[in-house]
Amino acid sequence: MSKVSVIVGLQWGDEGKGKIADFLSGDYDIIARFQGGANAGHTVKVGGREYVFHQVPSGLLRGGKVGILGAGMVIDIMSLVEELKQLEGVDYDLVIDERAHLVLPYHRLQDARQEESGRGVGSTRRGISQAYRDKYARFGVRAGSLLDERILKEDLKRSYEFNSRHFTVNLDFEEIYDILLTESREIRDMIGDASLYLRNAIEEGKSILMEGAQGTLLDIDFGTYPYVTSSHTISGGALVGLGFPWKRVDEVIGVFKAYTTRVGKGPFPTELVDETGNQLREKGGEYGATTGRPRRVGWLDLVALRYAVWVNGVDYLVMTKLDVLFGFPEVKVAVAYRLQGMDVRWFPASYHRLARVEPIYRTFPGFDDLDGARDYISFIEDYLGVPIKIISYGMDREKTVLR
Ligand code: GDP
Ligand code: IMO
Ligand code: MG
Repeated sequence: MSKVSVIVGLQWGDEGKGKIADFLSGDYDIIARFQGGANAGHTVKVGGREYVFHQVPSGLLRGGKVGILGAGMVIDIMSLVEELKQLEGVDYDLVIDERAHLVLPYHRLQDARQEESGRGVGSTRRGISQAYRDKYARFGVRAGSLLDERILKEDLKRSYEFNSRHFTVNLDFEEIYDILLTESREIRDMIGDASLYLRNAIEEGKSILMEGAQGTLLDIDFGTYPYVTSSHTISGGALVGLGFPWKRVDEVIGVFKAYTTRVGKGPFPTELVDETGNQLREKGGEYGATTGRPRRVGWLDLVALRYAVWVNGVDYLVMTKLDVLFGFPEVKVAVAYRLQGMDVRWFPASYHRLARVEPIYRTFPGFDDLDGARDYISFIEDYLGVPIKIISYGMDREKTVLR
């Protein structure tokens, strides 16, 4: 029986989506990314080796799988070619939707400059917001244009002129054109109509896992705007980003960490800026998989999580990194917020309001193993009204239990 599942992050990214997508991938024929680009960093540890995927879906490592880079993504060819080297020796196929937009060298440059000026949101400097900006301004260059030198030149020229007019382009046109032509040789054969590919796959009874990047609270509309990424990270993004009908989706899987992390600027109600925070960061290895930046850390926030369960329509939950909480004398979870003398139980849409809330905590006695965490786990399930079906308690694929 064919099965279609969407897996998304429920916090500010880095929930362990990569590990879980890899864990689940045995049940699927196709793993598809639907948004974002090389800003993502998904870590998979198998057989003592660690892999970090940025644009390629996690879960190709098992061999015999098809990876999809959907129309909703922004593709950086140079970094993709580099990344594919990790898969040498693995049997896989890749389909890059011809509709996906390209991240161009000047997008990265503009992103870096913005961050250096101090006016950015703390981006990954991968040119993501600039590529999406051009897409929505209708001056983007799409992957399909790489298949015809004449069309590529025409589209690149429009983009180049647009960027020269309004932004900075410190690079020569011919130089960029040549780089794109040369680099794209390695991936040309992979470019096609991914939506059609998925349609045919469904007809053949194939199973599909749609793998989100970033997290719900980084969604361009439903995240903590403007401290967000530039795509739809929620489950709805999978349909838009792959050209896939919602009636054919069977389930939505929501992944969350047993505590919370965030990279970059923006409000974070349960953030810990004390010794406990430092311990969590060190024990959890909370340093960015893409940029190496130390991640901000804090307790689990159930107000935010309840909101994330709703906007994604989560059917079941996966809790990761529970082992990181082992050994702490006590563990807290936010169950409500206090804002101007009132109790708030729903995640505020405005970051101005979110920045002013005080979390109200429930405290649990510390625990040292899965068994000891039973109360913590069932409290979260009761609060959210959704079962936690999978628990991850270590980096390795094996350190995962099905409940
Ligand atoms: P993603 O972006 O959601 O795929 O997550 P990242 O890969 O950026 O960050 C998650 C980090 O935690 C990676 O280094 C994983 O190897 C690691 N990890 C995942 N699950 C667990 C777990 O259950 N326990 C521990 N200790 N580490 C984990
Ligand atoms: P994965 O898929 C965590 C954050 C950046 C910044 C904001 C905007 O590994 O969970 P961007 O470069 O997208 O314009 O940056 O979003 N961000 C992430 N944080 N995990 C990610 O991906 C992220 N991708 C972007 O830190 O605050
Ligand atoms: Mg990550």
